[in-house]
Amino acid sequence: MGGLLIRGGRVIDPSSGVDENMNILIRDGKIMEMRPVRGFYSNSNMIRDQGYANRIKGEPDTNNPDTNNIEEIDASGKVITPGLIDMHVHLREPGFEYKEDIKTGSEAAGSGGFTSIACMPNTLPVNDNRSVTDFILSRGKERGIVNIYPIAAITKGLKGEELSEIGELSEAGVIAISNDGGVMVKGGVMRRALEYARMFNLLVISHCEDTNLSAGGVMNEGFVSTELGLRGIPNVSEEIIVARDIALAELTGERLHIAHVSTAGSVRMIREAKGRGLNISCEVAPHHFTLSDEAVRGFDTNTKVNPPLRSEEDLDAIKEGLKDGIIEVIATDHAPHNIYEKEVEYNYAPFGIVGLETGLSLTLRLVHNGILSLMEAISKLTINPAKIMRLDTKGVLKIGGDADITIIDINREIIVDVSRFKSKSRNSPFNGWRLKGCVEKTIVGGKVVFSDTTSQN
Ligand code: DOR
Repeated sequence: MGGLLIRGGRVIDPSSGVDENMNILIRDGKIMEMRPVRGFYSNSNMIRDQGYANRIKGEPDTNNPDTNNIEEIDASGKVITPGLIDMHVHLREPGFEYKEDIKTGSEAAGSGGFTSIACMPNTLPVNDNRSVTDFILSRGKERGIVNIYPIAAITKGLKGEELSEIGELSEAGVIAISNDGGVMVKGGVMRRALEYARMFNLLVISHCEDTNLSAGGVMNEGFVSTELGLRGIPNVSEEIIVARDIALAELTGERLHIAHVSTAGSVRMIREAKGRGLNISCEVAPHHFTLSDEAVRGFDTNTKVNPPLRSEEDLDAIKEGLKDGIIEVIATDHAPHNIYEKEVEYNYAPFGIVGLETGLSLTLRLVHNGILSLMEAISKLTINPAKIMRLDTKGVLKIGGDADITIIDINREIIVDVSRFKSKSRNSPFNGWRLKGCVEKTIVGGKVVFSDTTSQN
């Protein structure tokens, strides 16, 4: 028995367009009831409604409602959304557990409001075969507190040459294949990958980078890199592969998802491809719509990321793409690195920013700044990634559906404090930032996996 009642929150569910104060009752990991808070229920506790309590018990006609085991959460003044989904996370296990592991990565996800995450294959060993996928799935079940979906490598060892066993990986349960964290996949290999992926109904996620053009670069190529004397990574190193992969998607008829779009040219090409009806989707990471390459001036290695922080013009184009829906997903590209790895000269630091615990607040900044509506912002963190990854039961709130829910305080101010992160790593350029809006509670399968202890309630 038992259950959870979330009372009085403003439910925002972009999958149905709902924006209404509702009570939600959860039992056995599923949403059992959702009712608007008005009329008969306006100032009552729906659990004390006789008929309702009886339905909780599965005993339609009893006169003895048992409400003792129902835990209640008062969500008045809070926003309730489908559990957030992050389709681009590096969990580092197996192989780099000193940076992060499946347990701490999933805890960081929970504390960031994410109930489902997809993890990239650049582990050691690389997730390019069934045994690594099996390991991630079983470790995720055993130690993870959120739903974990592995993404496999397109090519063996992420070397860009020989295709992984895509059929076997699909059977093992990977949700997509990607070259993220590896080297460029050759055009011919990418074409075959798209063809195979199509046969197995798998998503292909492309990290678009011509490593020949980006080689040696550590930040965006432009005015700032020249002033700082750092080697630049030109926009074209991303755009040339975006153009190629759009052409290959068109040739093969396979859908394609472009990871962490960072340049105005990429947004333009994706807009054009979508305009022609191609099945292309894309994501942006919060750091790419929040910071420009000006942030590198202090030589903080936590600003070193791949693709790099770009120019103000690129940021404007990305915000425009978010606004007009060309960029339908916000994904953190959570890339933990140990403090000792980052505490070196800019040239030698690894690329990556941790994102799970700041992603929602940075997204809400777009809402507070009038760039996105709350509904639009939430759609990019819920139903849109769920649809792209074909997670049919995720990203929605509906009766009978999975009770994955995020409760958000959109107005509470926080100061980002990396020392409080659940992640094992601290490599965030947002430490000390004052942001408005944060996670209050994260619920996975009806269970509260994160509760903000610093909040008033
Ligand atoms: O900055 C990045 N870090 N970009 C990537 O593509 C990989 C990631 C990592 O794994 O550290």
